[in-house]
Amino acid sequence: MPNTYYITTPAYYVNALPHIGTAYTTLMADTLARFMRLDGRDVVFVSGTDEHGQKVETMANTLGQEPQAYTDEMSQHFRRLCDVLNCDQVRFVRTSEARHKKTVQAFWERLVNAGEIYEGAYKGWYSVRDEAFYNEDELVDGMAPTGTEVAWIEEPCFFFRLSKWRDRLVEFYNENRDAIQPNYRFNEVLSFLSGDVHDLCVSRSTFKWGVPVPGHKDHVVYVWVDALPYYLTALGYIEGDARFQDYWRESHHLIGKDILRFHTVYWPAMLMAIGLEPPRQVFAHGWWTNEGKKISKSAGNTIDPFEAVESYGADQIRYFMAREVAFGRDADYSIVALTRRINSDLANDYGNLCQRVLSFVEKHMGGKCLAELDDLTPEDIKIQTQSQELLMKVREAAEAKALQKMAEHIWDLIGEANRYIDAQAPWSLRKTDFKRMEVVLTMLVDVIRHVAVLSQPIVPHAAAKLLDALSIAKELRTFEHLQKSLHRHNQGALVRAPGSLFPRIDSSK
Ligand code: MSP
Repeated sequence: MPNTYYITTPAYYVNALPHIGTAYTTLMADTLARFMRLDGRDVVFVSGTDEHGQKVETMANTLGQEPQAYTDEMSQHFRRLCDVLNCDQVRFVRTSEARHKKTVQAFWERLVNAGEIYEGAYKGWYSVRDEAFYNEDELVDGMAPTGTEVAWIEEPCFFFRLSKWRDRLVEFYNENRDAIQPNYRFNEVLSFLSGDVHDLCVSRSTFKWGVPVPGHKDHVVYVWVDALPYYLTALGYIEGDARFQDYWRESHHLIGKDILRFHTVYWPAMLMAIGLEPPRQVFAHGWWTNEGKKISKSAGNTIDPFEAVESYGADQIRYFMAREVAFGRDADYSIVALTRRINSDLANDYGNLCQRVLSFVEKHMGGKCLAELDDLTPEDIKIQTQSQELLMKVREAAEAKALQKMAEHIWDLIGEANRYIDAQAPWSLRKTDFKRMEVVLTMLVDVIRHVAVLSQPIVPHAAAKLLDALSIAKELRTFEHLQKSLHRHNQGALVRAPGSLFPRIDSSK
């Protein structure tokens, strides 16, 4: 069976510029995609923009622009963000692309042919901000449960027989406990499914900006039924791509906790209705606050990811967001915490270690790490074992999407290496026992090699610089080469100081 991995971000709405929440999902997805690629898997990583619907149409109208021209321009910011965040090999899909519209219409027709769609009229509450329908009993003080405004709408529409799939979904989730992650989200979905599940309105007929319902030009497909199949468009499902099933079997959707129901109820039900398996896993992450406050456009406290990268660097933001919080939980974006992570974890612990060790080797050993490692002390063996076990530990964390753990394992080894260097004091050994000094430094360079190779998914830019300094060829940077000895890995080439990997932030500013 092919060793595939299909990882996705939501298709982001283009009614506003990218914010830290959109950057977060994209970054975590890229980190996992990079990890799996380096671990020898055949990865497809998809991100994109959700361009239809009432919310986007309203925004374009407000700005006096045609929706298409507006989305053409807005979508570029999201695409550019992928580059700015240093994402690798993103397959970027726009929902206004012709191939996607074809997918949505074919998806719709399959639902119709399966007898899953019927005509009716919707009468009830709708939140344009959420692009979601709400039952009367879900409202809280006249607002949506998410706190957004709702309006009463009455319009002809088509319904999807969602209620019919309720029991099948419950059964599916009871048999596939890890299909919803983290575990604590599972109950949330099951509790929704244990209530009254109504059929879902899947078309709108009071505005035009959407994919026309086949055979009913006065309806456009409801924006979620338009957006969700973007996960299929990206794999060439409608075109009958021969590899579709290989990837779909290993499909992992990363989303924010607010869009859990769309992904774990509506989406799998529609997939089952046309004879497809639900996604392999939906992982819902938490929300970021800004210095402890809820982020909102109206409060004017949104965080611009372009500015964040410009000020601190992409590696730094990537590391901070992965490390700061257990993936799944809410987190706080605080400049003090960010600065501390950069100065302490990155500049001091990681950067200084590498610079200290490698410049020492360059200066006093001519860049050669040729010491025989056969007469080792218990301290040597301890750190050597820890480096050799690092891949296994980080892999286990990556498989579980425990991004914080991935970083913790790597930084534990970095911490160990810093303690080892202080305890072994190679600068003193230089005068007393040059041979032992060479062993200690060779050990340390080997630890750095493990750290460099395994930190590529998190801090790709710095790791590449470090691997260059270790003279490890580009094609030898995948995990399978880690088991070689350092000398075989870099083919005996010289190592040199990497220079500054992570500049310190002046926290007084
Ligand atoms: N268009 C839909 C998704 C369709 S997927 C088939 C959508 N788009 S969105 O742009 O509004 O949201 C994108 C993601 O950003 C969501 O996963 C949401 O959880 C996330 N975030 C928005 N604000 C956030 C924070 N403050 N923190 C973390 N993530 C947040 O929903």
